[in-house]
Amino acid sequence: MKFFSNMSIENETLQLNNHSITDLASTYGTPLYVIDGDYIKDQCKKLKHSFKHKTLETEILYASKAFSSKAIYSLVEEMDLALDVVSGGELHTAKASNFPMERIYFHGNNKSIKEIDMALNAGVHRIVVDNLMELEYINSLNQHVNILIRINPGIEAHTHEYIQTANDDSKFGISFESYDLNKAIQCCVDSKYINLKGFHCHIGSQIHEASSFEKAAAVMLDQIKLLEHKYQLNVTELNLGGGFGVYYSKDQPITDFGFLTDLLNQCYGYISKHNLKIKKMMIEPGRLLVANAGSTIYEIGFTKTTLSGKNYLFVDGGMTDNIRPALYQAEYEACVGNKMTQPSQTLYTVAGKCCESGDVLIKDILLPTVKKGDFLVVASTGAYNYSMASHYNRIPKPAVVMIENQTARTVIKRETYDDLIRFDC
Ligand SMILES: Cc1ncc(COP(=O)(O)O)c(C=O)c1O
Repeated sequence: MKFFSNMSIENETLQLNNHSITDLASTYGTPLYVIDGDYIKDQCKKLKHSFKHKTLETEILYASKAFSSKAIYSLVEEMDLALDVVSGGELHTAKASNFPMERIYFHGNNKSIKEIDMALNAGVHRIVVDNLMELEYINSLNQHVNILIRINPGIEAHTHEYIQTANDDSKFGISFESYDLNKAIQCCVDSKYINLKGFHCHIGSQIHEASSFEKAAAVMLDQIKLLEHKYQLNVTELNLGGGFGVYYSKDQPITDFGFLTDLLNQCYGYISKHNLKIKKMMIEPGRLLVANAGSTIYEIGFTKTTLSGKNYLFVDGGMTDNIRPALYQAEYEACVGNKMTQPSQTLYTVAGKCCESGDVLIKDILLPTVKKGDFLVVASTGAYNYSMASHYNRIPKPAVVMIENQTARTVIKRETYDDLIRFDC
């Protein structure tokens, strides 16, 4: 398992930001999500340092779908980031954490009328409009609204189909070539209320090739140039989305933030060459900020060897707290957190406790031979784990503990069985 800067070993036991995983397990129970707040702050600092330009204004939005909670909103607020929310629930959470509304961008391909009203009443900074119907509804409100339009730039990124968002059939955004875009822009031009500030695109997730982002930026800038001329627009903002890949398992590179500086320079070159009016560039990473900051501690239960010789190691969670392996074959690394110096000699398949054959967290992994009561630690579970967690089989969601400035504290409580029946009538 790859060690990130926040991990170390003491007396055979894995430490997460100087906290022993066995102590964390006995204090907070298992399964337990552990989020290293210091690591996230470090990522924010590095990103801000790389995504900065001497002429262009820049802004980094945290794509909060990766992990949404009051604690993380407070943390990114403290780091001076902006926020991408995608539902009334995420907006409500942001409000509850006193996140400044003037730094919130409201996304979503099917915002409900209630959600749009909620966002406008709250005074969010920008509505990122996904489609023509949404735009027409907002226009009908006769209320001044600043928007970005989400574009589908038609870039095929090398990533899993489920996390590609910009192929021609994607449900997100409007394609440049589509008639809807012309209608949408004409609607903005004719409207007394809608102020089209700029455009947004997001080409997918877990993308490691800088060239995909460069291609997307080039397509966006080319098209913005054409639209500016055609409609006499004053496009001042361009948001290139998130999707920057992170390390989850072998063969995946560690993201070098330097490419973001190159990307900005490339954009600025085009903007100044063609005299575009863009003044502000944005990105909205989710996993890049939080994925590697998270680990999940499980207690190992029973083991079993099948007739064909497969060794199953069962943990006290599974697809309910990490759906990504079942959903899109995501790969993770893990270790036996209380046996860190023992040789990895047994090939295991790590499976959860759910009543589903697909409830497998890791297919083949060499680990020290385990016994019931050992702790399995799965790394890089900070993004799209808690936020995608479910109650399948009526399994309560685990607690989330954040470690920051040497101190561990619960930021989301463990659910109880009574929580599970709270809404049953
Ligand atoms: C519009 C938008 N922005 C940003 C993100 C964040 O992606 P990632 O967490 O891969 O950076 C997503 C992810 O789905 C997205 O849809």
